[in-house]
Amino acid sequence: MEENHTNEPVTIRPMRIEDLAPVFQLGERLFTLSESPSLYRTWDEFEVIDLYRNDPGSCLVAEWNGRVGGFVLATVIDKRNSPRRYGYLVWFGVAESLRGRGIGRRLFAAFRGIMEEGGVRMLLVDTEARNVEALRFFEKCGFSSPRDHVYLSLQLAED
Ligand SMILES: CC(C)(COP(=O)(O)OP(=O)(O)OC[C@H]1O[C@@H](n2cnc3c(N)ncnc32)[C@H](O)[C@@H]1OP(=O)(O)O)[C@@H](O)C(=O)NCCC(=O)NCCS
Repeated sequence: MEENHTNEPVTIRPMRIEDLAPVFQLGERLFTLSESPSLYRTWDEFEVIDLYRNDPGSCLVAEWNGRVGGFVLATVIDKRNSPRRYGYLVWFGVAESLRGRGIGRRLFAAFRGIMEEGGVRMLLVDTEARNVEALRFFEKCGFSSPRDHVYLSLQLAED
């Protein structure tokens, strides 16, 4: 993304098929140049396509100046033998140059509205413990009671 253009309006809208490539490219900058936010999911084109194909109604983009400046990729989980539906926010990101001006908050508010309309009772998200900015952001969005989660790994073969 180029420099900031603070006056450009941002539109939050459902993700469309033509957003797949820009969402993938933005996520490449957000999730692979730094560290992956999750051990068990990796950011690649299949991840984006699978989530979009599986649950397009749970995927949103923030369009800024005709470009994708942020996105939510999520899915609704129906648990067997339980009436509860969970909204799992799998990937969430805003371009570096557009941060701190409420785009994440607006994306989340739109996502939350869609989940509520769909009868979802609880939202879930996970991120690395050291991703302090994301944790602060999710707390501001109302998430609470982070549970300590420790992932163990056992390498079975050399890379
Ligand atoms: C987390 C992220 C989406 C926030 O997006 P954003 O558009 O900058 O967030 P907003 O401007 O809407 O901020 C909303 C609130 O979160 C808080 N917040 C956002 N970034 C923060 C930071 N770096 N440090 C502390 N608080 C922060 C703000 O204080 C703000 O609260 P306020 O409105 O009361 O001031 C963005 O930093 C990001 O894309 N991070 C990298 C990707 C990532 O880690 N995703 C999560 C795991 S999938």
